[in-house]
Amino acid sequence: MAIQKRPFSSRSAGFSFLSLASTFSAASAKLTATGLTVTLNDVYYYISPFSSGKLDVPCGSLSAVPKVFGFKPVTVVNQEVVQEDVSDLFAKWTTIDDVFQSAFTDGVFLAASGVSCPYKNSTKACEVKTPSRSFVSLKNSNVSSGPYFLEVSTGHVYPVYRLYEDFTGSFVESVIPTPDGGFQTMSAQIPGSASLTIGVPSRLYFTKTKEKPLAGVRLGVKDIYRIKGMKGSNGNRAWYNLYPPSNYTGPAIQNLIDAGAQVVGLQKTSQFANGESATGDWVDYHAPFNPRGDGYQDPSSSSSGAGASIAAYEWLDIAIGSDTGGSIRGPAGVQGLFGNRPSTGLVSLDNVMPLSPTLDTPGFLVRDPYLWDDANAALYRDNYKSMAKTKPKYPTKINTIGFPTNPNQSAAAAIITKFLGDLSNFVGGTATPINMVSAWAASMPAEAEGSPLSQFLNTTYPILITKEQIALVREPFYRDYAAAHDGRRPFVNPVPLARWGYGDTLPDSVVDDAIRNKTIFMDWFNKEILPPSDDPSECSSSLLLYVSSQGGQNPRNRYRSGPGVPFGFSSGRISVYSEAPDHVFPLGQVSVRSAITQHEEFLPVGVSVMAAKGCDGLLVKLAQDLVEAGLITPPLAGGTITGDPVINRRMAEMRDYY
Ligand SMILES: *[C@@H]1O[C@H](CO)[C@@H](O)[C@H](O)[C@H]1NC(C)=O
Ligand SMILES: *[C@@H]1O[C@H](CO)[C@@H](O)[C@H](O)[C@H]1NC(C)=O
Ligand SMILES: *[C@@H]1O[C@H](CO)[C@@H](O)[C@H](O)[C@H]1NC(C)=O
Ligand SMILES: *[C@@H]1O[C@H](CO)[C@@H](O)[C@H](O)[C@H]1NC(C)=O
Ligand SMILES: *[C@@H]1O[C@H](CO)[C@@H](O)[C@H](O)[C@H]1NC(C)=O
Ligand SMILES: *[C@@H]1O[C@H](CO)[C@@H](O)[C@H](O)[C@H]1NC(C)=O
Repeated sequence: MAIQKRPFSSRSAGFSFLSLASTFSAASAKLTATGLTVTLNDVYYYISPFSSGKLDVPCGSLSAVPKVFGFKPVTVVNQEVVQEDVSDLFAKWTTIDDVFQSAFTDGVFLAASGVSCPYKNSTKACEVKTPSRSFVSLKNSNVSSGPYFLEVSTGHVYPVYRLYEDFTGSFVESVIPTPDGGFQTMSAQIPGSASLTIGVPSRLYFTKTKEKPLAGVRLGVKDIYRIKGMKGSNGNRAWYNLYPPSNYTGPAIQNLIDAGAQVVGLQKTSQFANGESATGDWVDYHAPFNPRGDGYQDPSSSSSGAGASIAAYEWLDIAIGSDTGGSIRGPAGVQGLFGNRPSTGLVSLDNVMPLSPTLDTPGFLVRDPYLWDDANAALYRDNYKSMAKTKPKYPTKINTIGFPTNPNQSAAAAIITKFLGDLSNFVGGTATPINMVSAWAASMPAEAEGSPLSQFLNTTYPILITKEQIALVREPFYRDYAAAHDGRRPFVNPVPLARWGYGDTLPDSVVDDAIRNKTIFMDWFNKEILPPSDDPSECSSSLLLYVSSQGGQNPRNRYRSGPGVPFGFSSGRISVYSEAPDHVFPLGQVSVRSAITQHEEFLPVGVSVMAAKGCDGLLVKLAQDLVEAGLITPPLAGGTITGDPVINRRMAEMRDYY
């Protein structure tokens, strides 16, 4: 086992000119540990500054275990296992946890009854040495099983985080939890090219229970959700610098934390959650890299970090994003992930930056549909009706919008039409194409006064996102910034600026008009096109599908025209207005010729599946059942949905085998 020193970082938490000045007059310096980075058998680890508990360490024990800055790598086995069986247990642990490894097992704290102590009845811990390791009996301890660093002088054990490079640039800040229920920045940096270091805690510390269904689940959080102790940016540098850390975690993220989720970092959003394209629109922060295909495709927005990270990193389980006009569905589609725009209004968005409170929804990007259900249940609580443990009666009526009709048209068309056939067989129903524009023309309500759909809803979205965000975000931001900077205005990226500029041309009265049109459309759609079912086990009268991604290329090295205003109506806007759930299912991938690599590369194909409002649980159960039936394969992290290495990472990954 090799253990190497890394620079130790510690600093005075309240450092400023003022506190520096007072240091010279007052006697005591405030020295605070922010953690320590080490390598153990060439793997980078971070030692948390917050103790998990104190162990009884017999004098002079663990002498053969290596030490750095007074810390020794050890393993706690707080369960009934005897010395002879720990090797089997450790072999199992290495398969379920990427943090644990054999280098932690030279010194093992084992529940007292498992250690062959000379005096079983001793009230003190004893050490028993075997040829391969030292065992110390664990006395009256609450410390969870798993790897730790033991501070030899005090007996405190500190949790271990494995460190990973955020090579896709998905994160804006890496966080660790603090004992007061908040967070602080993780002070670790491993080698990487202009990328953050993210730490993940050992999975062994956490046990799933009914109360904690997300115990140990590693979660990325879009940088519009404020969490206690951390500043936020909304994708804007001036914002990050202007405002102090949040003093509480909003209810949405708190629900996930209460269910056991481990927040590992804040993730990139396009600015103020407006739709931006890589790379030119991303002026304040660089757009994350979509790891699929040639590695230079747009990751879509605005939950860009969420999508790129879940597509790239096996060590990250799930990310929470938000969808106002497609900000979860877009990244899910182009990165080949499950992703949900939920029914509107399932959980409070208090302490979350709004784009449009009328249309904003929080949802997930995830590879595993079982975790998806648990996460939804935790986030939306009683507003989510999980059907995971039921046998739904799936709607037999399937409608499609804009689906390819001929599988021979393209490789993506073949995947999509095959899926439609499979789905129809699976539910025992039939699929019928519908056209929203003509359906509306045929049965629109009288209040619409004959207005074609493309006109009726043409300006609804841009009005709501601009007028609501101007009032709730821009105005206070500009005011606060001017007050702090002698009347100056902060920098804002071209896209939000262009959109807000459109909003400024309109009177405030248009908001009521936009909400009226949205509501008229919603009521019509939820009655005429996608009504609920009377049968609770069916929930929705039908399923409505449209194409999410056909494996088209959208390279990030292309110069684009200037930003515009998102007018118009499209399939992706239906759920935005109707408030019905809209879930992206990854179906497969197609080979495309990359102009960058001059090679065939694979890009994802996916569909959006909608059900009646409130039937979110039905859609997730459908995803699970289609996986069970072998009709959908859950995507893997990597350069392809089948888990090939990300192209630019191949050499880095091979380093492990040199
Ligand atoms: C522990 O057990 C041994 C032998 O049974 C006995 O001699 C000794 O007094 C006991 N010690 C304590 C602390 O009870
Ligand atoms: C273990 O936890 C319980 C409940 O939190 C506490 O009462 C007890 O003192 C703890 N024991 C130790 C040894 O820390
Ligand atoms: C957070 O700070 C604000 C402003 O100072 C205060 O009004 C609010 O009560 C604080 N909330 C919590 C949970 O501490
Ligand atoms: C697709 O191609 C196959 C093989 O050439 C052919 O048999 C089939 O009829 C074609 N399908 C359609 C819808 O054109
Ligand atoms: C939508 O609104 C924009 C801006 O007013 C206008 O330029 C465009 O022609 C409209 N499109 C339709 C279909 O009405
Ligand atoms: C609402 O619909 C009317 C047609 O009935 C249309 O003239 C108007 O532009 C629409 N306004 C918005 C904001 O959607």
